[in-house]
Amino acid sequence: KITRHYNFNVQLQNVTRLCQTKSIVTINGRFPGPRVIAREGDRLVIKVTNNVPYNVTIHWHGVRQLRSAWADGPAYVTQCPIQTGQTFVYNFTVTGQRGTLWWHAHISWLRTTLYGPIVILPKKHVPYPFPQTFKEVPIIFGEWWKADTETVINQAMQTGLAPNLSNAYTINGFPGFLYNGTTKDTFKLKVKAGKTYLLRLINAALNNELFFGIANHTLTVVEADAVYVKPFRTNYVLITPGQTINVLLKTKSKAPNAAFVIAARPYATGPAAFDNTTATGLLEYKKSSVSNTKTKNKKLRLLRPVLPKFNDTIFAMKFNKKVRSLANARFPAKVPKTVDKHFFFTVGLGISSCPKNQACQGPNNTRVTAAVNNVSFVMPNIALLQAHFFNKSKGVYTTDFPANPPFRFNYTGTPPNNIMISSGTKAVVLPFNASVELILQDTSIIGAESHPLHLHGFNFFVVGQGNGNFDPKKDPSKFNLVDPAERNTIGVPSGGWVAVRFFADNPGVWFMHCHLEVHTSWGLKMAWIVQDGKLHHQKLPPPPSDLPKC
Ligand code: C2O
Repeated sequence: KITRHYNFNVQLQNVTRLCQTKSIVTINGRFPGPRVIAREGDRLVIKVTNNVPYNVTIHWHGVRQLRSAWADGPAYVTQCPIQTGQTFVYNFTVTGQRGTLWWHAHISWLRTTLYGPIVILPKKHVPYPFPQTFKEVPIIFGEWWKADTETVINQAMQTGLAPNLSNAYTINGFPGFLYNGTTKDTFKLKVKAGKTYLLRLINAALNNELFFGIANHTLTVVEADAVYVKPFRTNYVLITPGQTINVLLKTKSKAPNAAFVIAARPYATGPAAFDNTTATGLLEYKKSSVSNTKTKNKKLRLLRPVLPKFNDTIFAMKFNKKVRSLANARFPAKVPKTVDKHFFFTVGLGISSCPKNQACQGPNNTRVTAAVNNVSFVMPNIALLQAHFFNKSKGVYTTDFPANPPFRFNYTGTPPNNIMISSGTKAVVLPFNASVELILQDTSIIGAESHPLHLHGFNFFVVGQGNGNFDPKKDPSKFNLVDPAERNTIGVPSGGWVAVRFFADNPGVWFMHCHLEVHTSWGLKMAWIVQDGKLHHQKLPPPPSDLPKC
């Protein structure tokens, strides 16, 4: 076990994409941001210094933060923001996890440009449960706007309409050659023939689930959200914002005289407009130097992959069902077999009354908003975790978050006409180590749309998923309690549901939200408060002395 130190200097940097230069918020001037590497069991000490004129926090997405909730990062949930000129040290141990995760800013929409990979290697001398790999390559998807981030957020927040579409999707920061004048801005993966590569896929896009594929190559999925899965082969991958998926890429045994297009483009089921363009990169084989001299002038053929249709919900459901835990002796799946606390949450869009003096563009002077169980979450002015830890919840939050929707209806059928959303800062309190079952039901109040739900502080087991309304009489008998996927983010299918289970074994305040940034901003978020256990090692220690103040 070792301690690894990183210095994260938050600074502005001019970056040129799509033939335009703009100043963006970066870590150490790099875009995408630096890679954080650790081995399972290591301690990470990451000193973040804010040198930009915005408040900042960093979240270590998917890191369980066992008894280190203070280092989790969501602004006003576990900490107050790091203000301009201030420093905060994120100090945590990576326990019981190995694989790919990522870090990103967790305040406003700063994660548009502030993100990077986290690579957690197995403990020394512990092999992967899949073939030896020749090389490992993080591939991180994002979105690029020509406008500055502030303009994009304000537009989404003030009108209650979808934000301006991004101008491009990106692969490792580059849009690729299908966008105007960006041939040079293309990510290239140079490979050798006959080798196995591990691609660490990360979806850091703000508002889009993505399909990913490489022309004429199949991929083998071996890990999702830093948990090994039963390997399966596929031509393309579906990855929602927040998720990470490791795939093996076996290169062809002889270097072909062709280049292969790497492509990512959206999976979208919603009523809103979306950017149906494609980010591209290139997979190129290195030729041996001998053949290189002769074939110099031969033009390479360019082969393109065929990705599923943008609204291929059947592929999406099938793909998600293929993801299964290894669930063997070395990597057992500790699925809760019984349930102490049951919750049924509707997730989706709705409407709320329009604030005074604002032009709202929803029906009858309303605005479009988003909610869990008809509650649109309001961010507090001080961090929930501080209020909880020091018993100062009064005026900050209440603990009456509803365990069920206000009333039952046909969630995926004709929209009822009285679905108004209320707002509040409400949390659910869970006793330490309770086993929790949570049904997430997508609603079609405004239109069916899938929502990638992300839970901080835990992995949950995806014990069931289906289309239409969840049926409490029939569906639970089909739950998979043997080898369900263990994840931190799951796409609740458009007009469908997922059932997840987890043990509340991590004391603190834990955010849960849709990882589509626009839906989070509109209120599709809530908080769980997990109480301390009785024993010393079941309690959350006090905050670090440099924890920022509000
Ligand atoms: Cu990756 Cu709360 O987020």
